[in-house]
Amino acid sequence: MSELVNLSPEQDVAVITIQNPPVNALSPGVPEGMAAALEAAERDPSIRAIVIIGEGRTFIAGADIRELEHAAQGHGAPPELHGLLAQIEDSSKPVVMAIHGTALGGGLEVAMAGHYRIATADAQLGQPEVNLGIIPGAEGTQRLPRLVGLPAAIEMCVSGKPVAAAQALRLGLIDRMIDGDLRSGAIAFAREKAIQPGPHPKTRQRHEKLGSPPANAPLLAAGREQARQRRRNMAAPLAVIDALEAAASLPFEEGCQKEREIVTECLASDQCRALLHAFFAERAAAKIPDLSSDTPISDIRSAAIVGAGTMGSGIAMALANSGISVRLKDVESASLDRAIARIRQTYAAAVEKGRFLQGVMDQRMALVHPQLSDEGFDTADLLIEAVVENLALKKQIFAGFDRLAKPECILASNTSTLDIDQIAEATGRPHKVLGLHFFSPAHVMRLVEIVRGKDTAKSVIATAMALAKKLRKVGVVVGNCWGFVGNRMMLPYMREAQFLVEEGATPAQVDQALCDWGMAMGIFAVDDMGGLDVQWHVREERKAFEKPGLRQPLVLDELYRMGRLGQKTGAGWYRYDGNRKPAPDPEVLALVENAARENGIPRRTITTDEILERSIYIMINEGSRILEEGHALRASDIDTIYLTGYGFPPYRGGPMWYADTVGLRKVYRRIEEFHSLHGELWAPAPLLKHLAEEGSTFTAFDAAKASLARL
Ligand code: COA
Repeated sequence: MSELVNLSPEQDVAVITIQNPPVNALSPGVPEGMAAALEAAERDPSIRAIVIIGEGRTFIAGADIRELEHAAQGHGAPPELHGLLAQIEDSSKPVVMAIHGTALGGGLEVAMAGHYRIATADAQLGQPEVNLGIIPGAEGTQRLPRLVGLPAAIEMCVSGKPVAAAQALRLGLIDRMIDGDLRSGAIAFAREKAIQPGPHPKTRQRHEKLGSPPANAPLLAAGREQARQRRRNMAAPLAVIDALEAAASLPFEEGCQKEREIVTECLASDQCRALLHAFFAERAAAKIPDLSSDTPISDIRSAAIVGAGTMGSGIAMALANSGISVRLKDVESASLDRAIARIRQTYAAAVEKGRFLQGVMDQRMALVHPQLSDEGFDTADLLIEAVVENLALKKQIFAGFDRLAKPECILASNTSTLDIDQIAEATGRPHKVLGLHFFSPAHVMRLVEIVRGKDTAKSVIATAMALAKKLRKVGVVVGNCWGFVGNRMMLPYMREAQFLVEEGATPAQVDQALCDWGMAMGIFAVDDMGGLDVQWHVREERKAFEKPGLRQPLVLDELYRMGRLGQKTGAGWYRYDGNRKPAPDPEVLALVENAARENGIPRRTITTDEILERSIYIMINEGSRILEEGHALRASDIDTIYLTGYGFPPYRGGPMWYADTVGLRKVYRRIEEFHSLHGELWAPAPLLKHLAEEGSTFTAFDAAKASLARL
């Protein structure tokens, strides 16, 4: 046995407990410990059945991703579980897997080798490997379709989404749901099975759900089509279908061999390395160097929001979804009515799609209280301002917060660009003030930029991070500079796209290039969705920060003056039909051509490479400045922001990781060239220049900073 695995006999049942906190990953020592425990139980004549269970918050949450990372970097082979799985399945005594928390990846693969699986009602079971750029590598692609059939196996493996226990029971993935104590329920279940005549079912010998080649062909074709559409440009979701096809068409051992070949190929891919980076980047963002684990965190049970627009109502839903009672205030009852209608409609659509039951919707609706007054502001744990980007108005609201709120209340602004310190000055308690920058739609988007002002207390930051986690969002702490991290990088990106159009590209061409490259949406489509008026206001306000004489986009002002504000007015960079489907608009092209002519900008053919380099490198350059100034704690935080809030393709790891993969020397050289061609807006960031000259990377920069912090 090992410290990571405990064997305790309960009369005639051996209970094998995995104890590898925090998530019982299959780290070195765990499979070996399990094998030793199984052998001891097999040998002991007083033992009639075996239970495998996880200690703490979960069953096994998967292979150890650090080990996968080593293998992906070419150091060593991926973990090998074949022997252990055969040992479990070939045990002469029934093996019952007792699942709570999450049985993910390798965890589910171990569970499927057991003869029986039982689970608590809140357990989740899944094969999320595609999210890491790989496929299940411990025979999961061979056992899962044997238990649940090919269609469900395709859905689970391609989406990477776990299924809840009730669905797992319907699918045949588990045998029973257990109320009450899992351990005693599992022991009782194991005794039940011990007295049944054997042999106990071996998953690898089951064939009844595997279908036939002619019946499977359309399922596989539909699965591949789905993978292409839902996981655009990603290799693993397609590769996993090849492995599932092998399960349905080859003997078990040969299918396993095929699976191993595919995993090895996936592990050697850039996509896998980028996705592993994204996984750890997201977790690193939760670690704030000057916040210790004993920093006090307050529980946010009630909140009030001022401003019932799109952002305010989205934030209200995000809070209500996590059981937080929320008052939604506006100055006009019509705005409140619209907000409540929007919230109701969103929830009703989710009920219709089967995402949750009507009862859940009713509970959530009951948590949202629309109001014109300040009622309840004095007892709220959190006050959030979500009005338009106007500093004077925000300061006025914060002065009101200061008068009303209880001393321990946290005061947050949802500003996307403005100075948190100036907003905090409107109160007598700047230590309680911070930015909580949600992204639209706020009940869906995972990112929250947590903006730290110069006086924001550590406990306020720690509470905001805990709140983000409670909302199932990713909180990233950022410094207080114009646009923080995300929007500060977005501005040059958007501006460069307009320059490309002035020089000869079309909005559709730019958007197509970006989408083909993997961005969730093209930049002009994003602009039209957000509203050209919003962009215009941001740019106007931004002018105060910019040196005079810098190149400015030529037609945005004109589009704004023409009332082409984007989707909401049926026209912006594109023209929209009744279903909000965009079409290129000759009127816009004529406008751009005229403006270019009047300003002496020669029109030429713009290549896809130029579009991509100018769009992405301008972001990287700005990201380097942000990093150097300390407004992002790590390059990987910038990646997390772009992956969770800006639709950056996950398999490219975020802008800074992508820069590393291109090579900082190459990125820097191109930026220098653009600098000489297009002027000051392309001045290379000193940090980028330094790292490029050193032959270094942003990853190395982060590692060096982390080891300095540990000294
Ligand atoms: N291997 C190694 N470490 C893991 C891990 C794994 N499979 N899963 C989680 N961890 C680590 C995290 O890195 C984090 O470490 P840290 O505290 O040092 O940063 C810690 O466990 C807690 O994880 P976190 O994600 O913050 O906790 P959570 O409760 O929000 O979520 C899970 C728990 C298991 C749902 C989530 O971590 C997850 O999805 N893990 C990946 C599961 C997976 O893909 N398994 C298949 C691998 S083949």
